[in-house]
Amino acid sequence: MTLSGKTALVTGGNRGIGLATVRALAEAGADVHFTSRTAANIAAAQRELGDLPATGHHVNMTDRFAMTTLFETGFDILVNNAAVIGPIGRILDVSVEDWARNIDTNLTSAFHAIQLVIGHMAAQGGGTIVNISSGAAHRPQEGWSAYCAGKAGLAMVTRSVHMEYGAQGIRVFGFAPGVVDTDMQGAIRASGINPVSKLPRESLAPASEPARVVAWLCTAAADPLAGQELDIRNPDLRAAAGLPPLA
Ligand SMILES: NC(=O)c1ccc[n+]([C@@H]2O[C@H](COP(=O)([O-])OP(=O)(O)OC[C@H]3O[C@@H](n4cnc5c(N)ncnc54)[C@H](OP(=O)(O)O)[C@@H]3O)[C@@H](O)[C@H]2O)c1
Repeated sequence: MTLSGKTALVTGGNRGIGLATVRALAEAGADVHFTSRTAANIAAAQRELGDLPATGHHVNMTDRFAMTTLFETGFDILVNNAAVIGPIGRILDVSVEDWARNIDTNLTSAFHAIQLVIGHMAAQGGGTIVNISSGAAHRPQEGWSAYCAGKAGLAMVTRSVHMEYGAQGIRVFGFAPGVVDTDMQGAIRASGINPVSKLPRESLAPASEPARVVAWLCTAAADPLAGQELDIRNPDLRAAAGLPPLA
């Protein structure tokens, strides 16, 4: 698996699945950039990444101006990973402001990143976009109306990009990473609101597993899957990306 000569941006790359993806892409030889809202988190991630070719940017994905500046040089690979789970609560218990903030982060900002990168990719003859999806895009969970709606919307953006720009070499994938041991799952456990929140931490997968699949999606081997919503639980996808079968 080599991505040498490629530049990549991973949004929300300072921890969890994002950080593991930064590592996987950099180890495959890409020059990787990542964002976070928090300068201290970027510094911690940079320490963890050591000498790998990875550069953090202190950019809030909902800041349209900062986003435009970040994308000026273009990227060959975009991983739309940044997301928030909250507000967690049934519809009558959450505010419209918090709900809209979730959609702005998880859906509108991902759309904006795509809009900012496609022109460069098409001019270069192609590029790869991975939208980090979720089972919640296709199945509602109690207390997650914003998160589910945002991820469902993102799945449709994946299909729209494929329809409109697939012929120009833009390879786009939706990818559900499974239930992974990250801070987001910690917040979900603390809420106690639905079956996902009851999953024991020991049953969650390491972030390195979805990261490996994302890196594989960035290679030509994944060409036949372009435009699809993929799930890490798919045995063929796991085998192709070099992951062991699920027990
Ligand atoms: N963990 C799971 O089981 C699971 C399951 C299905 C799907 N997913 C999806 O996988 C992706 C990664 O999730 P995770 O579990 O790794 O989450 P996480 O540990 O909570 O990390 C989320 C990342 O997003 C960043 N972020 C959030 N809002 C941002 C903003 N406005 N601007 C810039 N960065 C922002 C955070 O950085 P700062 O807070 O430092 O800004 C952090 O790096 C998400 O799309 C999530 O929906 C996760």
